[in-house]
Amino acid sequence: MVKPFQFARLPLIHFGNGKIALLPGLIKRYGMTIILVTDQKSFIDSSGAKELFDSFQKQGIRYHHVIISNEPSPEMIDTAVNSLKDEAIDAVVGIGGGSVIDAGKAISGMMYKPESVKEYLEGVGNREHPGTKLPFVAVPTTAGTGSEATKNAVISQIGEDGFKKSLRHDNFVPDIAIVDPGLTLSCPKDITAASGMDCFTQLTEAYLSDKSNEYTDALAIEGLKAVKSSLEKSYKNGQDIGASAGMSFAALTSGICLANAGLGVVHGFASSLGGMYIIPHGIICGTLMASANAITVRELRKYSNNKFLIKYASLGKLFLDTEGKSNDYYIDGFVQLLQKLTNDFQLPRLRKYGLEDKDVEVICKITENKNNPAKLSTGDLAEIINSRL
Ligand SMILES: [Fe+2]
Repeated sequence: MVKPFQFARLPLIHFGNGKIALLPGLIKRYGMTIILVTDQKSFIDSSGAKELFDSFQKQGIRYHHVIISNEPSPEMIDTAVNSLKDEAIDAVVGIGGGSVIDAGKAISGMMYKPESVKEYLEGVGNREHPGTKLPFVAVPTTAGTGSEATKNAVISQIGEDGFKKSLRHDNFVPDIAIVDPGLTLSCPKDITAASGMDCFTQLTEAYLSDKSNEYTDALAIEGLKAVKSSLEKSYKNGQDIGASAGMSFAALTSGICLANAGLGVVHGFASSLGGMYIIPHGIICGTLMASANAITVRELRKYSNNKFLIKYASLGKLFLDTEGKSNDYYIDGFVQLLQKLTNDFQLPRLRKYGLEDKDVEVICKITENKNNPAKLSTGDLAEIINSRL
């Protein structure tokens, strides 16, 4: 019998190479004045950006430009909101990687609020957001976080008492997502690898989540098929539009899956480690994915016929292209594939970002299992980190 479930609403999705050309027309549904959120360089320097700004000018669209150069902090969001509060704004558009999309999402959610965004962050503030916001259009230029389809914006304050927490509401799912794989073609190799591993982690964690259901499983499997056919190809050749389209599809699907099925322990580390050290989100996910899955499998094997081990075996069958083997063969093969990708993509170790042996215990104490299929102890968590220190 199909288990009961709920499913968050989706943005109006325009997927395909060249779909960015639709943006001016879609903006005009809301009005003629927007807040445009981008990063410092990558999109702004592209030829596509010049074309887009020309078409804004031709069509009379005015924009207030907010530049987000790192993962968004409460100060960045508050500063942008306070400087634009008195303007008549019709919509917010975010064109960039996950940080830019999250910043745009948070700005659209905070334009009607006098308080700091900090007061609405889960686990940080005490206020509940009612979901009032300006319309938000998300245009990703990397294939990774899937933020174009999620209901949360991740906001970080990095340091000793740092945090990486979400501003979340069902209404914060973007109104429109333009997913144009052509925009990801200029992405540097290391970012393609890190964001691709983030997407791979999200699909795997949502599929293995104790909150998954038939609907999210079906989507996660389609996203994982795209990862299988496109992740390594897009890393090897950044100009392969077919592979880029595969990864853009996988990233979008990963966002839909995580919004509805939750995530696992790798994203638990993304919150704890990401709040204390400046480490790109995709690097945390990519570098920890293999060892987190190896330890999770080890713990699941303590219970025979575990339903999650059967799901792990399905992942192995999907990725390994062999038939007629045992479930253990497929499970081990899947974990070995993750270890191979960690090496092939030269994912950096955590020490590179300032993490030291003495910090491991503190980090493990504050790391959540989230919806991981096996509940890992602080000792298990320490093993995961130490293997990538
Ligand atoms: Fe992620």
